[in-house]
Amino acid sequence: MIYKHTKTLDTSKDFILPCKKNDVDGIKHLLTIENPDFDGSFSTYQLLYGKNGNRIYLLGLGEEKEASKLEETFRKLAFETQKYWNKTIQVYAEDLSEEHIKKSVIGLEMAQYQIGEFKSKKEKEDKKTVSFSSPKSINKVLEEGLYTGETINKIKALVDAPPNIKTPEYLGDWAKKSASEANYKCTVLKHAELKKQGFEAVLSVGKGSVNKPVVIITEYTPKKTKKVDIALVGKGITFDSGGLSIKPSTNLHYMKSDMGGAAVVLGVVELVAKLKLDINIVGIVCSAENAVDAESYRPGDVINSYSGKTIEIIDTDAEGRLVLADGLSYAVKHIKPEYLIDLATLTGSVVRTLGYEAAGMFTHNQDMASTMSNIGYKVHERVWQLPMFEEYKSDLHSDIADLRNFSGKPLTGATNAAQFLESFTEDHKNWMHLDIAGVSFGSSPYAKMKSASGYGIQLITEFVKEKASK
Ligand code: BES
Ligand code: ZN
Ligand code: ZN
Repeated sequence: MIYKHTKTLDTSKDFILPCKKNDVDGIKHLLTIENPDFDGSFSTYQLLYGKNGNRIYLLGLGEEKEASKLEETFRKLAFETQKYWNKTIQVYAEDLSEEHIKKSVIGLEMAQYQIGEFKSKKEKEDKKTVSFSSPKSINKVLEEGLYTGETINKIKALVDAPPNIKTPEYLGDWAKKSASEANYKCTVLKHAELKKQGFEAVLSVGKGSVNKPVVIITEYTPKKTKKVDIALVGKGITFDSGGLSIKPSTNLHYMKSDMGGAAVVLGVVELVAKLKLDINIVGIVCSAENAVDAESYRPGDVINSYSGKTIEIIDTDAEGRLVLADGLSYAVKHIKPEYLIDLATLTGSVVRTLGYEAAGMFTHNQDMASTMSNIGYKVHERVWQLPMFEEYKSDLHSDIADLRNFSGKPLTGATNAAQFLESFTEDHKNWMHLDIAGVSFGSSPYAKMKSASGYGIQLITEFVKEKASK
């Protein structure tokens, strides 16, 4: 879609007319009938025809508290009706705030996502133009909304992609292409380099697959100083079979989405570069396929890691924490960022705890926790803090190695995983772990099967914006 700004609305042509809940009076001057059977409830719409036979879509914005998810109402309208639109449609944006306009563009752009990328016959839609009428100058927000929506769609396509195509190397190629398009640096460490540098935990997880592991390092550093403000580390398991501790086959195909954390990291660095934010940011993606093979690492193995700490493998399905351990160690040793955030579809435990409504948040830094929590409410990508009490730590004790990767108990799984990661952060003061297993992939009204949600792009980009120089 193309997004444009016009000063005034042409009421003789098609337009979308946003309306707050129970505020039909506020838009009365643009209506063609007295009573439109519409009350402005969130994510509802009503088609009226204007004097020229032009379409007027009344669009419900709902109550103020629903503004955080405003993209949803625009997304639904476009998803269901855009096939009837003319080449240009207008949005009456005079009463919309900048934040509302940005969210509207994100929603309209999200409706352009084509989930059937691998169908032999693809639906082809012409690019349409959406023209926002407002007396204010809004080109910057339109651009920000477009870039955000585009990046969300790109990372959704990655998460939804099949695991035979989306190999670790494919993620590396994706990052390189993005880096050259959005003007940032990207290095892909392949197998030989990982061996040389000692990414032992990443290598162990990837041992059972012909699709060899990679570590991707993306860097957007526009500032004069070399100091890195934020490092993001993402779990990039392109398929999680569980390894020799194999998973049951029900819903196993959904484990193609086990690189949701990596997708957020790749997407955020791309978006931050496109928005040209004044911040130094580095993304680290540790990517491997957790496969079953004679070469696979085993339960009982003791493996090494980038940090030099040895790990006893109790369960090869607890592989995400292993690849992240190396990513975090690399970040604290070489990047030394001010803020260190990792994102991962890490545990089934967090899904059982928080369901599909919030990511599990783990940190010892309460300032960071409250900043992230507030942003989560603002953009409707919520987080909920879970404990990291000292007492839980004994669960990671191993008799024969420095620590083990699973307690063997069906308790506090998300916390155990977070505390395992913590052992590789060198007590970094501004470290946060987000377990996005429940929110990154799931059911939606836009597909029959589970699919990628795009969760995390707005949350982390807003956090980065908050830390960027104004
Ligand atoms: N990739 C899974 C976690 C997951 C579960 C993501 C559901 C998305 C939806 C992870 O690698 C895993 O298998 N975790 C195990 C750990 C256990 C063996 C210690 C889990 O949570 O059951
Ligand atoms: Zn697993
Ligand atoms: Zn996994």
